[in-house]
Amino acid sequence: MKIVLVTGGSSGIGLQTVLAFQQAGYRVITCSRDENKWNQALATHPELSAVDYLPVDLKDVHQADRFFGYIRESYGHLDIAINNASPKLESRGEFSSVPIDALYSTMVTDFWIHTLCLRYELNLMPAGSAIVNLSSVNGIRPTPNAAMYLPQNMASKD
Ligand SMILES: NC(=O)c1ccc[n+]([C@@H]2O[C@H](COP(=O)([O-])OP(=O)(O)OC[C@H]3O[C@@H](n4cnc5c(N)ncnc54)[C@H](OP(=O)(O)O)[C@@H]3O)[C@@H](O)[C@H]2O)c1
Repeated sequence: MKIVLVTGGSSGIGLQTVLAFQQAGYRVITCSRDENKWNQALATHPELSAVDYLPVDLKDVHQADRFFGYIRESYGHLDIAINNASPKLESRGEFSSVPIDALYSTMVTDFWIHTLCLRYELNLMPAGSAIVNLSSVNGIRPTPNAAMYLPQNMASKD
């Protein structure tokens, strides 16, 4: 059975991706920070009980290291990785007045999480595996009040 990791699988695009792989017969691993949100998804979609879910904050290198260590010990490898985890845009607003910690947070979450996951995933993947990095149309099109989002998505595409 093929093994797929979908980061941030408790809502939105990640949840729909988890459901699609689950229905297609893959062994699915996913994570998110808030386990309650995952449990709500589970209540709506009982078939998700076969998914291997762990509460992980991927911003935290130590948690990420434990998470990928668990994947290595439990599965040995990954066939597919979907790097999707990203919080709602925190740095929204006029760039010159967006709080500096919000700019930093967007940089860390939307660039660093993808980078960190790639670093671990490549070491778990045999030839022929696949990685998808979720990005945004904002990466190629300036969007008012989302200036910090633009460079992050350009970076994550490279
Ligand atoms: N929705 C859109 O219109 C749209 C458009 C273009 C691109 N995108 C991109 O598509 C991706 C998903 O967007 P979405 O709208 O589906 O988002 P969403 O519904 O907010 O889902 C994000 C998922 O990531 C998890 N997550 C957030 N921060 C995390 C962290 N530090 N560690 C682990 N998990 C984390 C969230 O759970 P927790 O909060 O519990 O951690 C949740 O499961 C993002 O990369 C986004 O940039 C979305």
